Amino acid sequence: MPREYKIASMPGDGIGPEVIDAALDVLNAVARYSGQFTLSFSNLPWGSDFYKATGTYLPSNGLETLKKYDAVLFGAVGAPDIPDSVSLWGLLLAMRGPLQQYVNVRPVKCLSSIEPVSRHVRPKDIDWIFVRENSEGEYAGQGGRTHSGFDWEVATEVAIFTRHGIRRIMRFAFETAASRPRKLLTVVTKSNAQRYGLVLWDEIAGEVSKEFPDVKWDKMLVDAMTVRMVRNPQSLDTIVGTNLHIDILSDLAAALAGSVGIAASANIDPTRKGPSMFEPVHGSAFDITGKGIANPLGAIWSSAMMLEWLGETQSSVLIMNAIEKACAEGNTTGDLGGKLNTKQVTAAIISNIGK
Ligand code: NAD
Ligand code: IPM
Ligand code: MN
Repeated sequence: MPREYKIASMPGDGIGPEVIDAALDVLNAVARYSGQFTLSFSNLPWGSDFYKATGTYLPSNGLETLKKYDAVLFGAVGAPDIPDSVSLWGLLLAMRGPLQQYVNVRPVKCLSSIEPVSRHVRPKDIDWIFVRENSEGEYAGQGGRTHSGFDWEVATEVAIFTRHGIRRIMRFAFETAASRPRKLLTVVTKSNAQRYGLVLWDEIAGEVSKEFPDVKWDKMLVDAMTVRMVRNPQSLDTIVGTNLHIDILSDLAAALAGSVGIAASANIDPTRKGPSMFEPVHGSAFDITGKGIANPLGAIWSSAMMLEWLGETQSSVLIMNAIEKACAEGNTTGDLGGKLNTKQVTAAIISNIGK
């Protein structure tokens, strides 16, 4: 009997539906090729059109609905005519935290034949895993505004760092580093200027490191980290940091490796009490929406991460090899220097499965 997985597919806004279509085509193709498992997809129409029609991004039973699935595949959210703070807190951030997806894993690698953007970077120098704290920190959602519109208006945006939250992300990061050949972890903070929360972060890194004597680790301030990524990329392997810091560094990393269009991510609940959610790192990309030219690799790579999480490791590797082969043959979209559109790249990847 083939193994069965129920997947919630939530394409969302902008190029989200274009890249999620591509990911579903690749997932269906690899499931057929494998014959070992089946995927049934439910399309959830939550996004900005749904919001305009119903007044809500996430229905009141939305989280309960998601818990019935083995995983969630998400595209992007954000529309030009709705404030980003409403759309993002209405949908994406209303899922990551409440579903306790407290880890965000963002691998970045320079794919075959892709020229890195900086002359300081050789393709083999970039093979990184970013581990992003995904439930608190600068995204804790604590704050407010008073005296609206007056000159003495005040707004607060409070970053929250808890011992529990830091310890669990730090353990995940050390475990990730320990599972990779180089066993190398860089802990990113800004504990010179941010002297409470990020000093706690450094202290807990030191404590947790004692549980992982095989892992070599170092600390970086986030500003200097941007320079090290560009000037000395081969010195890095696994990187852990706060919600905001890794948000920024992972976009930089993707651009260095070729394009933000390739960046993949997994929002993980390591306890497996709830579903994990897989999504490309990029957003709705209004400037190219509807043109059919969006790079589908971030979404397809994310779906490979989903299969790995579900235990279908062989099929996950098949997808990654098919992506590598398409890149090696120059079958890429314009952001990577190629000439193909979204559907042609997807077809190239599907035809590479198992080759
Ligand atoms: P963006 O990632 O949407 O776009 C930045 C630039 O990268 C654009 O020039 C875009 O064309 C290009 N790009 C992005 N993805 C691409 C792809 N797959 N192929 C080729 N080019 C690609 O970031 P932005 O412009 O800052 O944000 C647009 C909207 O998306 C905003 O509403 C923002 O809040 C939202 N956003 C959502 C998510 C998410 O849902 N996960 C992530 C980031 C931004
Ligand atoms: C990402 C995005 C989101 C984030 C935004 C859209 C809230 O930029 O997933 O990288 O900052 O986490
Ligand atoms: Mn981001």
